Amino acid sequence: MERRSRLTNLEVFVVRAAHLTEEQRGHVRELQSQCFAEVPYDQLMEDFVAQSVAKVLAYHEGQPVGCVSVFRRSIEHAGRSIVLGGCGGTCTRADLRGRGVGTTVCLAAMDVLRQEGCDAAFLAVGETSGTAAFYERLGFVLLGKPFTFVNARGVTKTPSSDDVGMLAPVCAREVFELVMAGGEPLHLGPEKGYW
Ligand SMILES: CC(C)(COP(=O)(O)OP(=O)(O)OC[C@H]1O[C@@H](n2cnc3c(N)ncnc32)[C@H](O)[C@@H]1OP(=O)(O)O)[C@@H](O)C(=O)NCCC(=O)NCCS
Repeated sequence: MERRSRLTNLEVFVVRAAHLTEEQRGHVRELQSQCFAEVPYDQLMEDFVAQSVAKVLAYHEGQPVGCVSVFRRSIEHAGRSIVLGGCGGTCTRADLRGRGVGTTVCLAAMDVLRQEGCDAAFLAVGETSGTAAFYERLGFVLLGKPFTFVNARGVTKTPSSDDVGMLAPVCAREVFELVMAGGEPLHLGPEKGYW
């Protein structure tokens, strides 16, 4: 990616899901429709149904330029209860990519996950999209094994696209290491959906 100057005067807001205004919802929809237009409708309705706990929104000169959704849920893995956080649907307005917006919103999302006491953070990326490199800079590593989730109809599935999981330590490095070490797939249920 071409190296461009950082956007310096970003205004960043962390908004709990219950406090999102209609205007902010509109900004998220506008950005996501630019960034994820290729995601099939079925996948949106059946797989990407996880409820976020907060959104991070970035504005430049009063205009929405980036956002990410923040997730938190409890899962069981290798006989242990884990508080799994996540950030998903990171997007930067197309003409402002490569200027630090994505990094800024994701770092703010990671701060939320730390405050929420999440052990580790999960996200999924398209294996062939190249975005894994972006998240590696933020401390995520490829899971290196499958993950499963429960879709909107209650069916346990593996992702249908070329999505692969990534994990980062947040509050508990030993939990991150536990999940990374075992051969057992990471199951994101029983809550529905993934991100
Ligand atoms: C992925 C995305 C959010 C990155 O946002 P951004 O604002 O461009 O990211 P940043 O400017 O903070 O990039 C930070 C670094 O990661 C690199 N980077 C950004 N996107 C990258 C990508 N897709 N692949 C590899 N490296 C990438 C940048 O070059 C930059 O490196 P530098 O610090 O050496 O200059 C943005 O490209 C986007 O909205 N893409 C479309 C939606 C999408 O695919 N989201 C991810 C869903 S999993």
